[in-house]
Amino acid sequence: MMKSKGCARLIIHPSQYPLGLGRELVDCVRKGTVNPKFLYVAPEQASHWLELRRAYSPFMKKGDTYKQYLGCFKRLGANLKGTAVHIIGLGCGGGEKEQLLVNTLQKHGCQVRFTALDVSIPLLVLAQQVVQLTGCTVEDSICADLPRVKQINELFRSESGPEHRVFTFFGMLPVLPPGKLLSMFRSFLKPGDYLLTSANLIPEHLDEASKASLLAQYDNQKTRGWLSSFLGNLGFSNDCGELVFNLLEKPAFFEIRAVLKLLENVTVVVNGQELKLKAGFKLHLFSSFRYRNRQVRQQLTKLGLNCFGTWESPSDNESILGFERNRGNPATKVRLRNASGWPLKKKVK
Ligand SMILES: C[S@@+](CC[C@H](N)C(=O)[O-])C[C@H]1O[C@@H](n2cnc3c(N)ncnc32)[C@H](O)[C@@H]1O
Repeated sequence: MMKSKGCARLIIHPSQYPLGLGRELVDCVRKGTVNPKFLYVAPEQASHWLELRRAYSPFMKKGDTYKQYLGCFKRLGANLKGTAVHIIGLGCGGGEKEQLLVNTLQKHGCQVRFTALDVSIPLLVLAQQVVQLTGCTVEDSICADLPRVKQINELFRSESGPEHRVFTFFGMLPVLPPGKLLSMFRSFLKPGDYLLTSANLIPEHLDEASKASLLAQYDNQKTRGWLSSFLGNLGFSNDCGELVFNLLEKPAFFEIRAVLKLLENVTVVVNGQELKLKAGFKLHLFSSFRYRNRQVRQQLTKLGLNCFGTWESPSDNESILGFERNRGNPATKVRLRNASGWPLKKKVK
C-alpha cells in the first residue's frame, strides 16, 4: 500500500481489538480490579491524563528531572556515536521524552528511526507527531497491550544493515504490575539491546510526613478528576462512593492504590451488559508502583542487563536508569520469587 505523506499509520495488535476490549472491561468491573490501560485508552481519558501530566510531570516542567534525562541521553549518544539506531518507545505516551532522545542522538551523528508502541490511539498519534518534528524516520505505530504481546519483535520492521535497538520504558515501572515485568523484558531484549527506564522512587526513610506528601501527589483534584471521568463514562455517579488513596508496603516495592468503595447499590451498563454492584463493593481503580534504585538494578541485572548509569533527581524522587543487554548472552538462572513480585520461572536463554 502507498504510504500517504503526512498521515499517521497504525498497526492494531489483537490485544487491543474492540470486541475483546469490551469483554475485558466488563470483567474488570465485575472482578473489582481495573486494568491500568483503561485509564488511557479513550480519548477523554487520554486528554485528562495529558492535563494531569502538564500540571505535575517534573520532566514537562524542564527542571532537574529534565536535566537528568538529558544526561542519560547524552551518555547513550556518546556510546552510539555515528551509528544507526532504532528507538522503540514502549508506553510512549505523548512521545516528548523520545523526541529529546532522538534529538540528542542526532546531535551525536546517529541515523535514527522511531517506532511508538502504546495502548492508547490518541497518545500514539500525538507521539508520532511530536517525534516527527525531529525529522527522523517514523515507522508505523503499534497499538498493543504490552504484557499480552507474545512475539513483540515480530511487530517491528527490521533494517538489513547493522542497527542498535534502544527501548524506552519511561513512566511504565509505576504503571505495570511488577510481577509481569521480568518475563516481558526477557521476551524481547536481545544481546546488545539497550533499555532506558525511569522509576518513581520511595524515600529511604519513610516517616509520617513523607508518607503524607507522597499520598498528596496522587490524592489531589486533578488525579481525582482523571479517575472520576473514567467512572463517569462507565455510568457511576459522582456521589455513589468514596475514593480512598492508600500507601501499601510490599517486600520488593511500594504501591499507592486508589479504591472506590460504593456507599450505595449501583447498576452500571458496561459494553451493553448490566452489572449490579452492592453497597460496600470495592473497585481497585489505580495503582502506582514505587521502587528503590537498587531494587530495579538488582532485578534487571538478573536478566543479563548491565546498568550503564543512573541519573537521579532527589527533588522529584525520580530516577532514570540505562541498561545494555550483555552481548555474551549468559544463561542466568533466576530463582522463582512470588509474593514479592518480579517473578521469573524459567532459565534466561
Ligand atoms: C505514565 S504514562 C507514561 C507515558 C510516557 N512514557 C512518559 O513517560 O511520559 C503510561 C503510558 O503507558 C501506556 N500504557 C498503559 N498500560 C499499557 C499497556 N498495557 N500496554 C501498553 N501501553 C500501556 C499509557 O497509555 C501511557 O501512555
